[in-house]
Amino acid sequence: MLPDADELAEVLLDLAVPHEDITELVRMGRRVMFDPELLRFLEMSVEELVRDMGEINSAVDLPELDWPSGDLQRCFPAYVFVAALPYTRAYHRERGIPAEVSRRTLADLGRNMAVHRRRYGLAGVQSPRWLTHHFRGELYQLGRLQFERSRYGEWTARALAGAGVDLAPGTPCLSLHIPEFLGPLAPAACDRSLALAGEFFTRHYPDEKYRAAVCHSWLLDPQLKRYLRERSNVVRFQERFRLAPQDAEPADSEPVQFVFGDPELPVEGLPRRTGVERAVGDHLRAGGHWYIGRGWFPL
Ligand SMILES: CC(C)(COP(=O)(O)OP(=O)(O)OC[C@H]1O[C@@H](n2cnc3c(N)ncnc32)[C@H](O)[C@@H]1OP(=O)(O)O)[C@@H](O)C(=O)NCCC(=O)NCCS
Repeated sequence: MLPDADELAEVLLDLAVPHEDITELVRMGRRVMFDPELLRFLEMSVEELVRDMGEINSAVDLPELDWPSGDLQRCFPAYVFVAALPYTRAYHRERGIPAEVSRRTLADLGRNMAVHRRRYGLAGVQSPRWLTHHFRGELYQLGRLQFERSRYGEWTARALAGAGVDLAPGTPCLSLHIPEFLGPLAPAACDRSLALAGEFFTRHYPDEKYRAAVCHSWLLDPQLKRYLRERSNVVRFQERFRLAPQDAEPADSEPVQFVFGDPELPVEGLPRRTGVERAVGDHLRAGGHWYIGRGWFPL
């Protein structure tokens, strides 16, 4: 199910897994391969992951390994993704996805492990559920942004009610995501990304006509405008969208996670080095809250 040690190291490198995690993953990988119980669990997880490959909105929940070794438990999803790789690659080939798009998309595994390491100082996969989209052919990174094939459903409808959306449930849409560790969100980079997406989906998913781009993110909280410079990339990103009225539930930990790397940091000590750091921290210290903004624009 898993490649041997040499090949595993190379595959992990291709998936952008942080260098400092590779040796440990290769070592634990041997344990996975020689333990029948772990191997069975791996097979079961891969089956769950690749079932209905390419279908959108199918809720895949990887079973969580309950194991005495915390290291193995934290890293186990990485083995599931590596073992699923031949299925993902076959699906990408079938759709004619260019190798470089495939590679940059799946490298989010490594990014996600870097997020885990930044927060805990240890190897681990931070959000296995999130990565299922990439390995099931539902999401692609094209330039600065990631695009998730999605459908305009009840949830999106509720979220965007009031933002002027006029789409029937079931209409295909693209959900936009903004990866970390990839430099500024320059308007030109976003334009390029959107242009790439236009070509990519027309070529590889001609059967799905996406009518709208949607985005749910702390970056779309309109309160950010009160703090950031008019020409800031975040403000200009917001301006692309028609925004829905704000959620009722605060989501303070979202910007704290994305800006400072750990959602549980006490607000008093948050640094104030950059515009976004000052915005996020000052607003919380003044007793304010942050919300997930929801926006859309027609495609
Ligand atoms: C989205 C992102 C690329 C925007 O960065 P940007 O293009 O520099 O944005 P802006 O131009 O609006 O930044 C304004 C200022 O805040 C700083 N800043 C922006 N995002 C920051 C972040 N995550 N952490 C620290 N500082 C940040 C910028 O460096 C700039 O600093 P300055 O005032 O000293 O010039 C950045 O916030 C990021 O990488 N976020 C993580 C990914 C994320 O949040 N995704 C959404 C998940 S729902």
